[in-house]
Order: sequence, then structure tokens, then C-alpha cells
Amino acid sequence: MSTTDNIKVAVVTGAGGTLCSEMARSLAVQGYKVALLGRGLDKLKIVEAEIQSAGGIAISISTDVTDESSVNDAKNIIEKELGICSLLINGAGGNQNDALTNITEFDEKELQNDGSVKGFFNLNMDVFKSVIDINTMGTVIPSFVFGRSMAKQKKGVIINFASMTSFRSISKVGAYSIAKAGMVNFTQWLAAYLAPANIRVNAIAPGFFLNDRSRKIMFREDGSYTERAKNVLAHTPMKRFGEAPELIGCMNWLINEESAGFVTGITVSVDGGFLSSAGV
Ligand SMILES: NC(=O)c1ccc[n+]([C@@H]2O[C@H](COP(=O)([O-])OP(=O)(O)OC[C@H]3O[C@@H](n4cnc5c(N)ncnc54)[C@H](OP(=O)(O)O)[C@@H]3O)[C@@H](O)[C@H]2O)c1
Repeated sequence: MSTTDNIKVAVVTGAGGTLCSEMARSLAVQGYKVALLGRGLDKLKIVEAEIQSAGGIAISISTDVTDESSVNDAKNIIEKELGICSLLINGAGGNQNDALTNITEFDEKELQNDGSVKGFFNLNMDVFKSVIDINTMGTVIPSFVFGRSMAKQKKGVIINFASMTSFRSISKVGAYSIAKAGMVNFTQWLAAYLAPANIRVNAIAPGFFLNDRSRKIMFREDGSYTERAKNVLAHTPMKRFGEAPELIGCMNWLINEESAGFVTGITVSVDGGFLSSAGV
């Protein structure tokens, strides 16, 4: 038996991204062996190197979470190199420009399809579907693959990612909203289903946090806020964007068996008050 055999194993999808790289680093500091999953290996390797240079244990595996065989391959590597996953953070997700409108309500110009505006009727339905896929099946499939191993062990914790769009209609992001609303329901459904297997399933709904994609939407080249950013901040009572480390307390609570051992099926908002205010 190796000296690391008793250390818990966490699988973090989207681990090269803004929010989940922070979570992965924190889990490693807390003593988890961490498997970093995402498609782009370069981003994962940066996080892996940071974890290892701080004395932690991490491996990176290029994985498409919408592809069951890719996730199964990752699981086999993880079980061989680290052990059985007891914590799954389903962080992979996001949006794509071709699934976003650039107007907030119907405009007759969109019916001309001349590129003057990008409304709902100008969107690419294949891209629309792919955004729903990554933000739904991209959580369902890892839960299916790693949840099965957890169920055999009769223990585990799963954390999904919802969003403000899970609860409120937010302009421009229709496909993403469908998916993130679904995540609240899937979290409830899976929590109820897996309770007899001693697996708790909860979700975190971040408010507006900056990542590489949203930074381009929220800031002009001169560093000033775009109209979108001003609108978001006007509807956020704390009048600022969230920072990735501000999710760690919520994650730590949800993964802790003593403090959250009776908590399953909920979605916790970490949002600077966004959902508390109608903005009027
Ligand atoms: N930032 C926010 O304000 C905010 C708010 C609410 C909810 N969320 C949710 O929180 C989670 C993390 O967000 P974030 O801000 O950290 O986003 P991010 O920086 O864009 O990170 C998301 C990561 O997901 C990975 N990914 C995307 N598609 C994938 C696929 N098919 N297979 C495997 N990995 C995939 C991406 O890596 P590759 O492209 O290399 O695969 C990326 O590194 C997401 O679910 C997001 O929807 C974020």
C-alpha cells in the first residue's frame, strides 16, 4: 500500500478555468489528490504545476465531458493513478458567441438576416444545442461515470454549477439559461436518487464572476465598463463582480460531512445579492 492510498480523490472538471482552477488548488491544499479534467491540456498543466509546486498531488487529463467514452477513459486513468473518486466538482461549462443574441428583445431587422443585428431568429441552432449539451450532459455524464464508482463505495459528494440564469431570465443567453435552469432540477433529482447510496449532490450558483470570456463582454479595450457590465452591476447590490476565492467557503461547507452531512439537493447562490433584488 502506498503512503497516498488513504488520501481522498477529487475530480474537478473545467479545472483549467477561472473558478474551478481555484477550487482545485484549494482542494489540493486541503489534502485531496486532484484529477484536473478539461479539453485543453495546456491550461490544466498550469494548474497541475501550481499544485505540485505547493506540495500537492494532481494529474491532468484531456477530457471532453460531453463524451461518455472520453470520461470513462479519464476515470480508468484516475482509478489507476490516484484511486477512486469521492468528490466530483462538475465545473466544465460555458457559452459560445454564436448562441448569444446581441439584442435584448425582438427587433424586426433580425427577420432580414442581413447581419445588422443578431437576434433569436439569426442564431445557429447547432451551436445553440451544443451550449445546452455542454452545460447539461457535461454534468450528467461525469455524474454517471464517477457516481457509479461512488455508489459502489457507498460514499461521495457531487457539486454542480448553476447560475443566476437558473432562477431569472437574463437577456441574450437563452441556450445557457435552459441548461443552467436544468442544473437546479438535475441536482435535486440526483440528490434524491443517490441519497440511499450515501452520496450528497448540491450545486453552487455563482453570480457574475469575471472569466476570460466574460471579461471581453464586461470591459472595453480602454478598461472602462461596457453597458452590459454597468447593467449587471446596477442589479448587483454589492456593486462588484465576484472573485473566484469567494466560492471556496461555499465549496468547503458543502463537501464537509460534519457541517453539511444533512444537506443535499440544494443550490447555493454566491451572488453579491443579485437574486435578492428586482433591480427596481
Ligand atoms: N464565471 C461566472 O460568472 C459564472 C457564473 C455562473 C456560473 N458559472 C459556471 O461556473 C463554471 C465555471 O465557470 P468559469 O467562469 O470558471 O468558466 P471558464 O473559465 O470558462 O472555465 C470553464 C472550463 O470548462 C472547460 N470546458 C468547456 N467545455 C468542456 C468540455 N466539453 N469538456 C471538458 N471541459 C470543458 C473549459 O476548458 P476547455 O475549453 O479547455 O475544455 C474551461 O476551462 C461553469 O459551469 C460556468 O457555466 C460561471
